[in-house]
Amino acid sequence: MNLVSRFEDAVWLDPWVSGARGAVNSIVRSPWLRDVLHGVPVGHPVHPLAVQVPLGAWISAAILDAVPGSDRAAGVLIGVGAITAVPSAVAGFTDWSELHEQQQRVGLVHAAANIAATGLYIVSLVERSRGRQTRGRLFGYLGLATVSAAGFLGGHLTYRQAAGVNHSEDVPHRFPAGWHGLAPVNEFADGKLERRMVARMPLLVFREGERLHVLSDVCSHLSGPLHEGEVADRGEPCVVCPWHGSAFSLRSGEVVGGPATAGQPRFSTRVMNGVVEVSLPGAG
Ligand code: FES
Repeated sequence: MNLVSRFEDAVWLDPWVSGARGAVNSIVRSPWLRDVLHGVPVGHPVHPLAVQVPLGAWISAAILDAVPGSDRAAGVLIGVGAITAVPSAVAGFTDWSELHEQQQRVGLVHAAANIAATGLYIVSLVERSRGRQTRGRLFGYLGLATVSAAGFLGGHLTYRQAAGVNHSEDVPHRFPAGWHGLAPVNEFADGKLERRMVARMPLLVFREGERLHVLSDVCSHLSGPLHEGEVADRGEPCVVCPWHGSAFSLRSGEVVGGPATAGQPRFSTRVMNGVVEVSLPGAG
């Protein structure tokens, strides 16, 4: 097991995880603001987009620091990086507050490394302002090394631990094309969430009067079982995930409330001889 994977099981981090999560949840309270920081309006997590600015500025500063006579420009870029790291961090912490515990342990180390890197860049700026350019460059390069290590942890969090990715992306690739029997239509009571297996995949079924709505039962955020959630009226009937509270329209599958940013695959339905059949557009 490599060092990064060890962080996943580092239970000694849990008191810090708990404290930081409580702080984030008490600071970023507005559901509307949380949705914006998660990236619900753009359908994609905001954090990986936002980090482009400080990282780009800091990498550019490192290049300029190797070019004689570019100290002032390098200092400006380091300052831009330090300022824009703040909104990136706020978005990242908001996402992090609604992850699994193994992801939160790695995420906390990722955040601590980024905070340390930002501190090194601020020291670099202070040294430059005092005319100590060589020390300023040294702290700048230490900051770059630290933020690169933090980026490696962020990669592990995303690509190994699947934080921030769409956990429903595979559904159209795994579900067979065409129409498939679901269950007799009279099995479904009005207003109740039901789970049925079709082609060995779990589907969420909701009856609204004469209409049946069928979505993937696996939450796009982190695979929570939607049929164990609740029905809520958010201007239209929605299912609220039992794990982190994402809300999806039962009519369309679209995200109505985060932390999920990707909608649920929605199945077409028809009734043949009293049996509900489903088909997934684009499947197979
Ligand atoms: S698994 Fe996190 S909101 Fe559904």
